[in-house]
Amino acid sequence: MTTLPAPAPAGLRRFTPRRFLMCRPDHFDVRYAINPWMDVSAPVDRARALAQWETLRRTFESHGHTVHVVDGEPDQPDMVFAANGGLVIGDRALSARFATPERRAEGPAYHHRLSRLGLTEVAAAAEINEGEGDFAVVGRLILAGTGFRSSPAAHREVERFFGLPVLTLDLVDPRLYHLDTALMPLGDTIAYYPPAFSPASAALLAHLFPDAIIATDADAEVLGLNGVCDGHHVFLTDRAPHLAARLTERGFHPIGVDLSELLKAGGSVKCCTLELHSPPNLNATVPPPHAARLRTPAH
Ligand code: ARG
Repeated sequence: MTTLPAPAPAGLRRFTPRRFLMCRPDHFDVRYAINPWMDVSAPVDRARALAQWETLRRTFESHGHTVHVVDGEPDQPDMVFAANGGLVIGDRALSARFATPERRAEGPAYHHRLSRLGLTEVAAAAEINEGEGDFAVVGRLILAGTGFRSSPAAHREVERFFGLPVLTLDLVDPRLYHLDTALMPLGDTIAYYPPAFSPASAALLAHLFPDAIIATDADAEVLGLNGVCDGHHVFLTDRAPHLAARLTERGFHPIGVDLSELLKAGGSVKCCTLELHSPPNLNATVPPPHAARLRTPAH
């Protein structure tokens, strides 16, 4: 007797294989404090950081993703946070220009590494731009954070460079200083923590994404939103059970990872992961309220 495979349950989410760039934390340390998570007097266990990072890399690979590993620089202890190195969409990349002097040398270092990926064009940002830390690709829309690191001028530069609409969001909580600590793209929707945004930006997100997952204080306090979604799996800290439960209810498959050593520098899963995005699907829908909004200046 032949057994036919059971039909997929309605609404089952599908993953698509992704390409990620990650930087091995061989030189990871907390030697300066440029965000409230960083305490230079708290010891860092680099061997443990390396082991946790390796587990993340292997977890991505075992779920069908490709990871390009690049080396860090001895004098750049935050270089493990590859998301900040730039923004890569299709065959074009814009390498970062960091806000703080402590990380400034990472801009050219990432530029060099991105230049070796075989892309058609790699440009260096002219404006202060901390890459995917502050720029989230959601369909063919880019959500962009400002207030602590990337500048509003960088948002316009990204819009011109990639030819995609960029929506500016104001961040207001110093502990959630990059957009990727306050908001996680989930394919056609997002998860976010409203208090991390100015009232106007939070209202805009609520309008654009009425079905978004709302993170709690406890989720935000462990950087639960600093995760990576492949359409089905969501790789995130193992310390955010509430957020994991909400994701499960919505048909996602959360995969918890322990990155406690990297949290000492204010980073988690997404910070360690720069996605090399496929070209945008220009037929993808922009949420309808946003389409109207785009005809007026964002602010
Ligand atoms: N210590 C780093 C900084 O403050 C952490 C960067 C985290 N990266 C991120 N994409 N949120 O710049």
